[in-house]
Amino acid sequence: MAVIENSKVTVVGAGSVGSSTAYAALIRGSARHVALYDIATEKAEAEVLDLAHGTQFTGTSDIIGGSDISVVEGSHVVVITAGAKQKPGQTRIELAGVNAGIMKSMMPQLLEVAPNAVYVIVTNPCDVLTALALEQTGLPPERLFASGTVLDTSRLRWKLAERAGVSTSNVHAYIAGEHGDTEFALWSKATIGTVPILDWVTPRGDKMSVEELDQIAIDVRDAAYKVIQGKGATNYAIGLSSARIIEAILGDEHAVMPVSPVLQDFQGVSGMALSVPCIVSATGAEPIRETTFSPQELELFHHSAAELHKVADSLRG
Ligand code: 2OP
Repeated sequence: MAVIENSKVTVVGAGSVGSSTAYAALIRGSARHVALYDIATEKAEAEVLDLAHGTQFTGTSDIIGGSDISVVEGSHVVVITAGAKQKPGQTRIELAGVNAGIMKSMMPQLLEVAPNAVYVIVTNPCDVLTALALEQTGLPPERLFASGTVLDTSRLRWKLAERAGVSTSNVHAYIAGEHGDTEFALWSKATIGTVPILDWVTPRGDKMSVEELDQIAIDVRDAAYKVIQGKGATNYAIGLSSARIIEAILGDEHAVMPVSPVLQDFQGVSGMALSVPCIVSATGAEPIRETTFSPQELELFHHSAAELHKVADSLRG
């Protein structure tokens, strides 16, 4: 893709997710300048060096970084990945306490050097942390949102494309709600091309049943646990998902993506970040208010909101 001249993204956190995000952004040319910031000097500098050593092969994007917060200056987008990651079997919500503390200490420093950036929260539990960070910073809700279920939606589209025998880009299906255990698929609106998902005839000559789709949604919900069990973390797909979000912002694309801004009176939800289809552009993320849910999906959406409000309330306490 054509790199947006003078565009700059900073990735905060040089762990496996942050370094994979920087790597994906370099390869995809998501931004002209990619910065990787972490308070761990040796780690940050080593990741930047290792990335820089390959820039002969990555087009016109360049990489800088380190542990001096000045590397963040001038960023149009700041992607926050810093924090503890899930251990095998651990839920994202169990990270809330420690990561809320890290976010709370980091935000004022970042806003000082990048006051006008769009902030994308990847650190888990990303939805709850987004709600707390918005309260703390007072930023406009469109300018600080979570990566949400962009990753889960990519997992869903991969599974469906494989079963349906089509390109992932022709699978129009979304995961909504929490980026976590209460997420759900918007099956009522899912199509392949223009064909409703349950009417699609697969290469095997059969159609997908409701039971099969429900199992696919469960496999998507639990995908991270499986990967973490096997390799200790997830990083490539979240890195690519984050790079794609960066591009939609820097390119002012007005792309429809299931990111997670704090909602206000959206289908009866207020004050919590949840993933719904949004328009992502240079100003950030705007929920598409015309999005409708089936009665069952609305119930699941409100369940997601209620669960996350409980977590946020406990953290405020
Ligand atoms: C993922 O879903 C762990 O939230 C991360 O891969």
